[in-house]
Amino acid sequence: MSLSSRVSIVEVGPRDGLQNEKVTLSPRVRAELINRLGAAGLTRIEAGSFVSPTAVPQMAHTDETLALVLKKDLRLAVLVPNLRGLSDALSAGAKEIAVFAAASETFSKRNINCSIEESLERYAKVVAEARRHDVLARGYVSCVLGCPYEGVVDGVAVASVASALLEMGCFEVSLGDTIGVGAPLQARRLVERVARVAPLDRIAVHFHDTYGQALANIFACLEVGVEVVDSSVAGLGGCPFAPGAAGNVATEDVVYMLQRMDIETGVSLERLLAAGTFACAQLDHAPASRVAQAYGAKCNQPADRW
Ligand code: HMG
Ligand code: MG
Repeated sequence: MSLSSRVSIVEVGPRDGLQNEKVTLSPRVRAELINRLGAAGLTRIEAGSFVSPTAVPQMAHTDETLALVLKKDLRLAVLVPNLRGLSDALSAGAKEIAVFAAASETFSKRNINCSIEESLERYAKVVAEARRHDVLARGYVSCVLGCPYEGVVDGVAVASVASALLEMGCFEVSLGDTIGVGAPLQARRLVERVARVAPLDRIAVHFHDTYGQALANIFACLEVGVEVVDSSVAGLGGCPFAPGAAGNVATEDVVYMLQRMDIETGVSLERLLAAGTFACAQLDHAPASRVAQAYGAKCNQPADRW
């Protein structure tokens, strides 16, 4: 087994995390969270969404969030569902967007109100327009290991959507276990399946932690060569269109695991824990991160010393 010596983390807490919280944070607080995540060494951060505020009120005013981020060297990405969202994202100065398709028809309908095919046609125009403005586009495939409405999802369908997203110009495709039902061998086989149509260095993984499998799934995917992992500070969030889904795997837990395996992330665990504490204080609940809980229980231990 040969694991990469470095893994890139895409911090999705300010978007995927906050989009499903009961408390809607102001753009100022969301920007402060992003500043703190940047100060912890995270360089790729999803900052919000330009979607319908009726569908996801927590992400309204993402333009204000972007304007208030102080750290200018971050790669901030925003979710965009259509040309209207892209136009708003461009006006707000976004340099990176993410389009989000699904491998399940019912989830696609519930999430973005169109079929998979319609979404891919729509995204092809969005990505082409983004590229015309020198804006990078990432692609998501949701429900890669199961759908809340349809159950089992076919890996062939996942590979086909992933391949379409890359062909239209996405620089990377993130495989989303939206409802966190996958287990390590399935996760690994899925990556191997997608790797038949896409180079491994363009595949990222995105696990929600509903059944506590996310870290094991990540490890299984690292073993086959994945080097980009999505995670959410404090394990915040979930998806408003995936009932019962827990938040993403916590960034603190991913960073701890990688540090203990001597895999470089560029992230200070101590500062990351502080950013998670800040987020949870604003949201008035405890972190889902096991590492944050453990350090909270023995709070006089400097995190980076482990
Ligand atoms: P629709 O109803 O088909 O769209 O929704 P429409 O074009 O008919 O417009 C309906 C209304 O939305 C109109 O307003 C539009 O102006 C407005 P009204 O006239 O009724 O006042 N609208 C917009 N407003 C702001 N920004 C826009 C926009 N577009 C239309 N861009 C639509 C289609 C896609 C817009 C809607 O379904 C939507 O916004 N969905 C949001 C879905 C979402 O954000 N889901 C969560 C993110 S996905 C996720 O979490 C999974 C992921 O993490 C990976 C994983 O875990 O697997 C990425
Ligand atoms: Mg997600």
